[in-house]
Amino acid sequence: MKEIHVGLIGFGTVGKGLATTLLQQRDRLRQRVGAAVLLTRIADTAITSLPEEFSSVLFSRDARDVLTDPDIDIVVELIGGIEPAKSFILAAIESGKHVVSANKALLANHGREIFAAAVKNKVEIGFEASVGGGIPVIKALKEGLVANRIEAISGILNGTANFILTQMTDHGAPFAKVLKDAQARGFAEADPTYDIEGIDTAHKLAILMSLAYGLHVGVGDITTEGISTIEPIDIDFAREFGYRIKLLAISRNHGSHVEARVHPTMVPEDHMLANINGAFNAIEFTGDTVGDILLYGQGAGMMATGSAVAADVVDIGRNILSGSINRVPALSFLPEFIGEPTITPMSALTCPYYFRVTALDKPGVLSKISGIFGQCNISIKSVIQKSRHADEPVHIVLMSHQALEADVVRALAEIDGLDICTAPTMKIRILSDDHE
Ligand code: HSE
Repeated sequence: MKEIHVGLIGFGTVGKGLATTLLQQRDRLRQRVGAAVLLTRIADTAITSLPEEFSSVLFSRDARDVLTDPDIDIVVELIGGIEPAKSFILAAIESGKHVVSANKALLANHGREIFAAAVKNKVEIGFEASVGGGIPVIKALKEGLVANRIEAISGILNGTANFILTQMTDHGAPFAKVLKDAQARGFAEADPTYDIEGIDTAHKLAILMSLAYGLHVGVGDITTEGISTIEPIDIDFAREFGYRIKLLAISRNHGSHVEARVHPTMVPEDHMLANINGAFNAIEFTGDTVGDILLYGQGAGMMATGSAVAADVVDIGRNILSGSINRVPALSFLPEFIGEPTITPMSALTCPYYFRVTALDKPGVLSKISGIFGQCNISIKSVIQKSRHADEPVHIVLMSHQALEADVVRALAEIDGLDICTAPTMKIRILSDDHE
């Protein structure tokens, strides 16, 4: 019986998930690969030994012991972050080892260099677990949807942010407390700012866009706004108008340019994405042949993410055995067909908007505000005003029809400059399924 030898760098949450999966699913994997898939070595600096069930695996605190072992076919990097992960991956590639990684931050920032090195050294790089945890979204783009021009991507790609928004919506729970819960459950990034400020979502959107469009999209191409400015009152108003607030990754393919944005979004409550709750992720693609599809599942967590990492190991193992390395190009398109993106400027974005203006409750205030929106070509669809106590500023909530972001920026600068406005106006974009 042939054997595929795997070396793991990083025995944290996902590393344990992979090790457990390779052990528990050993027979099933052997039957599906045609060879034993053996976890031979694990390296981690944070522990001194492995749990009893992994006693057959060689342990080291030095990643070089994995990288220099000539018997290892596949190096799995699960330490996250940029360095030393990048150096480890490049060293593995240069010594002719195949690589599997869940490192979205690294791929979104340095993917071009890493993928070029893998092509040059004729090795595979698997990154299924980098987006959507256990959801096979990378494989869907690279294989299942390969016959489509992808026209749109809308996704909930960060479990922590979705968990926080869900708890705030369902229980009115305060932001800080919910964040602590998410950290305790092991979803949150080492630096939870990445979850809350949309950075982790932007990393994942960059990877999806690269695969979907055949473009070198980096995290710097994506306009990113997080959820830390969302207040319970906005969640309540959203509900009143029939929406839920979600942190969405959104891209639209306009042919000559592509939209690339991450921001809190009001989603109509009957839309499937409005009903993705807790730490779950969901990704909706629109393809010109397949139409709309939605992939849903656990976007984080030990075993779900371990399942995706193990699937990459199996893919590579099968390709090693059949002598078909890089049968499926790492970025779906052959390297010579991958181009540079032209990103739609945010000022050219058109969508409906929610505005919450905080102003003194005086005669003529509403007409002044609506007058400015009118002068800036923004057509208002509905308005409500709420005050809690006499003599306190009121919240005037306006929902617009489709409006141009440049006009919105101009209108809000003017409105927020009025002496009757006592706080900056809150603006939330509304999901529009118009892909044109
Ligand atoms: N911090 C990420 C999340 C983990 O909350 O979704 C999975 O990438």
